[in-house]
Amino acid sequence: MIVCNSKSSFRKWRASQIGPVGFVPTMGFLHEGHAELLKRSIAANSVTVLSIFVNPTQFGPNEDLDRYPRDFERDQKLAEELGVDCIFYPTTDDMYDAQTTISLSAGEMANRLCGASRPGHFDGVLQVVTKLFNIVQPSTAYFGQKDAQQLALIDSLVSAFDFPLTIERVATIRESDGLAKSSRNVYLTTDERSQASELYKALQLGKTAFEEGDSREQTIALVKQHISSKTTGLIDYVDLLTYPNLEPLDTGSQFVLACAVYFSKARLIDNLLIERVKNNATYDVE
Ligand code: PAF
Repeated sequence: MIVCNSKSSFRKWRASQIGPVGFVPTMGFLHEGHAELLKRSIAANSVTVLSIFVNPTQFGPNEDLDRYPRDFERDQKLAEELGVDCIFYPTTDDMYDAQTTISLSAGEMANRLCGASRPGHFDGVLQVVTKLFNIVQPSTAYFGQKDAQQLALIDSLVSAFDFPLTIERVATIRESDGLAKSSRNVYLTTDERSQASELYKALQLGKTAFEEGDSREQTIALVKQHISSKTTGLIDYVDLLTYPNLEPLDTGSQFVLACAVYFSKARLIDNLLIERVKNNATYDVE
């Protein structure tokens, strides 16, 4: 396994690669969710590139950029064990070395869910993902369904701007009690950690209620009620939208039921995809 600390060293290595290149972009502090993405890539491609870059442009002024968890040595060891071929681990100065007045706007789809309380976040994600796709030139890039809005926006970016690659969606990896794996789970206190699985339970209750005929509003209220009564977390949002267009409608065939909850030092997100078939029966596609 090779580690490239700059765009130029990466490009040299990339030029000598033949066959399909799989790509897993991350901000490091790898967990089993990332490992699953990497395993999928390694199984399907000639080489796999992992990028580790805590991207400043997707963090707001009061967000956790400085204290975002980092452990490169641990990540490197895990990547090596899994069989990753190259880690792209650039510095911020190297990634953002060019001055420009050009920017990307994620638009209307970014005003809902996480985008509503994180203005500019998805503009930053699309900016860095565009740069990474252009540098890495993957055949397939792998993203987790846990970041449902991010995945919908990246899918839209790739098709709208004709990136020559495929996006593969990988289902959320969960702890045994249902909590979605996340680098930020380390910030939870012991009490919060035991409450955090209620987010998944709340979404499951909501999914069942929606399947059984509850409206969008009733479903959202039920999920909110469960989270408020079972946790000390502060709800940022609970929403049920069509997927992947993220519209607030009751009609459609595929939906995302999603939530974000602030605990004392961590904001957790989770979601379930729900597919509605013609006779109004629904099933979880995760
Ligand atoms: O999901 C993440 O870890 C980040 O948003 C990504 C896609 C690596 C861009 O910085």
